[in-house]
Amino acid sequence: MRKKIVAGNWKMNLTLKQAIDLVEELKKNFHSGDKVEVVVAPSFPYLYPLREILKASAIELSAQNMHWETAGAFTGEVSAPMLLSVGIDRVILGHSERRQYFCEDAGLLAKKVKTAMDHEMQVIFCVGEVLEEREAGRHFDTVREQLEASLHALTPADWSRMTIAYEPVWAIGTGKTATPDQAQEMHRFIRQVVSGMAGEQTAEQIRILYGGSVKPSNAADLFSRPDVDGGLVGGASLKPEDFLAIIEAAL
Ligand code: 13P
Repeated sequence: MRKKIVAGNWKMNLTLKQAIDLVEELKKNFHSGDKVEVVVAPSFPYLYPLREILKASAIELSAQNMHWETAGAFTGEVSAPMLLSVGIDRVILGHSERRQYFCEDAGLLAKKVKTAMDHEMQVIFCVGEVLEEREAGRHFDTVREQLEASLHALTPADWSRMTIAYEPVWAIGTGKTATPDQAQEMHRFIRQVVSGMAGEQTAEQIRILYGGSVKPSNAADLFSRPDVDGGLVGGASLKPEDFLAIIEAAL
């Protein structure tokens, strides 16, 4: 049985005060860490203060991104050892916003994944097609290429720290969600691709999250599908009542 994950990707939102209020509210109301894994991914400046607040809670923290080098002349960047030094051992990589606005391609993402894995970090790796690719019937090819191009060098130990998030780009922040059938179909496909790359056992164990306009009204339906192991939530993760309702749907 795969334990579900509900992860909140806060993106570039909230002030420190708002971030603290949000996690305080989550901490007060979330006590089911044995049943579902809950992760929040705030911006870099908040990771350390929130780490302190969440120390005695079951809520995990993740970075939204990191650099592939461990140190050096890379103005504005944050490295794996820096994250680890403030108690953060999780990172989201390959988000479509990073691919789209910051030109992160498959080769660069392969380097980031390798660095994260070399530092024994847990990774949520995002894949997903744009609308034109789905309309042209290319969505399966796109997702397979994204997986193979960036995850081909993973060892079995690396795979055990890997989570995949399927986030169709046309569903992100648009209010338009993939139907549970569309999500299930793609998640099943992703599991097959992982099986080809890493073997059947790894494919059965890996958690595959759905992301793209997850909200309280659609979460239970999505999470009830056999290959949907939880969600990567954007907008709705900024509202404690919505995020808690989505967590509830994963229980
Ligand atoms: P929304 O839930 O706002 O559509 O964002 C999804 C997402 O990009 C999570 O990483």
